[in-house]
Amino acid sequence: MADQDAIDQLLAQAGVSLGVDSRRLRTAVALLGDGRWWTLADLVRETATSRRTIEALLRELPLEHNSGDRVRIPADQTGRYNNGQLAVISDPREVPDVLDRLETLIAKAPRGRHTLDHVAATAETVLRRAILLGTRFWLPGARLLGVGDHDLTSLAVRMVHPEVEVMVADIDERILGYIDDQDLGVHTRWADLRLGLPPSARGWADLAITDPPYTPEGIGLFAARAAEGLRDRDQGRILLAYGASERTPMLALKVQRALSDLNLLNEAIFPNFNRYHGAEAIGSAADLYVLRPTTKTWPAIAARLDRLTTAIYTQGPQAVEASASGLPGVEAVETFAPGLLAGDWPRELLPKVPRARLATLLAKPYAAAPDRVAIAVPAGLEAAVPRLLLATRARHVRVLLAGPPGDLPALASALSPVYELTAGGPVLDAVRLPLPDGGAARIVRRVLDGAHGKVANLWREGLTEAAGLTKKQARAAVEEAAPWAADVTALDLPLHRLAELPAAVSRTL
Ligand SMILES: C[S@@+](CC[C@H](N)C(=O)[O-])C[C@H]1O[C@@H](n2cnc3c(N)ncnc32)[C@H](O)[C@@H]1O
Repeated sequence: MADQDAIDQLLAQAGVSLGVDSRRLRTAVALLGDGRWWTLADLVRETATSRRTIEALLRELPLEHNSGDRVRIPADQTGRYNNGQLAVISDPREVPDVLDRLETLIAKAPRGRHTLDHVAATAETVLRRAILLGTRFWLPGARLLGVGDHDLTSLAVRMVHPEVEVMVADIDERILGYIDDQDLGVHTRWADLRLGLPPSARGWADLAITDPPYTPEGIGLFAARAAEGLRDRDQGRILLAYGASERTPMLALKVQRALSDLNLLNEAIFPNFNRYHGAEAIGSAADLYVLRPTTKTWPAIAARLDRLTTAIYTQGPQAVEASASGLPGVEAVETFAPGLLAGDWPRELLPKVPRARLATLLAKPYAAAPDRVAIAVPAGLEAAVPRLLLATRARHVRVLLAGPPGDLPALASALSPVYELTAGGPVLDAVRLPLPDGGAARIVRRVLDGAHGKVANLWREGLTEAAGLTKKQARAAVEEAAPWAADVTALDLPLHRLAELPAAVSRTL
């Protein structure tokens, strides 16, 4: 049996942690196998682990005892419990090439957007985050979710710990595109965390890392989404950057309250761990919190998420103070006679028409399939428009925005397999195109019409039906043409992937 399997089996038998927090126990096993004799008390002290846990471990290990109360793994067994993977990089100076590479990547990264509270962390900060993950947690087999990642922590982690699977969920298409361009195997997902975490990111990770907008609302929302992203509810951890000016302790207290409202335990706070290019109001620095969910975290999230998804940013039109601004052009919707109103419409508008929340529309297909749907998209939520249109299966969708749509040609091109778009001021009309006869266009349409379903599944089904491929052949073809399509839905795909979908599908025919 491989060493790692033997140790995993041992920890499982001892009924102790197998997850990312198992590093301490693996260290205890390594100490017991290093030839020295150990008392229980020394092991407890050396690994900073509770006596009960160490006792549970000792019960399962093959041990020899000396004349006193000391134990060790017998020499002929140490090979079996030898754990080479405990040694990890512990200092940025050990990997100067990675630091150089990160510096270049950060310098060339998309410029920060103040409306999203972007302030880039330094390359050394990002590298130290990656290193900390390795020194504190057991990473083989672990998954990390980046809840927002303008800092590019995901890239640093893939460079330093290629054994970690990494996913990033972010609202900013430029960041997702940039991360994809580096081809370091990071799974990218578009998400507006105010509307929800992508299905493929939910319950996915062992560790989550986030540097959220520094408002109590932003911290609460991002921490809640990070927790929703964890698959390991016992051992999972959330690493969160947050800093405040030394002049505003009350503000920091409000943020800490937002975390304790989620019943997240503060396991560690590393002062000034994060350094930034800018953010002088907070000393260009922020602390790094290691948060541990408790059993009371999940009910708290369920109870609070409604309230958490409000305005979250510190500045710009979407800032905390600037919420709930009315949308112009509501009249255009009355004459449109929609069968469903999605989003936040005035109460007196078409009171008999059913309503749905934007988050609900994205979360699951709307059951009634109305012919016409009107969607209200307030300032700051524009990035969700292509997803809301795909999520809506109506023949005609009218979107009311806070202003004229940004990059209409790019939007029209990404959605061209499904909709014809026209815009007049803040009103965007999307009319569903007839079904294409066959070929690649028909498969693309199948994927986009089933936008809540998994891209790879729909694509494979299309290939088996249209091109007569076996299931196995179809699977291989999709994996080869679009390794990024596994597990993702069209709603979570970054826009650049949506745009390249037709070409990728053509390659599989
Ligand atoms: C406050 S910024 C991060 C600060 C960090 N030092 C930086 O500049 O990258 C938060 C991160 O989450 C992303 N983000 C902001 N609002 C978001 C939202 N509503 N949904 C998803 N991601 C969001 C941003 O694009 C960014 O990557």
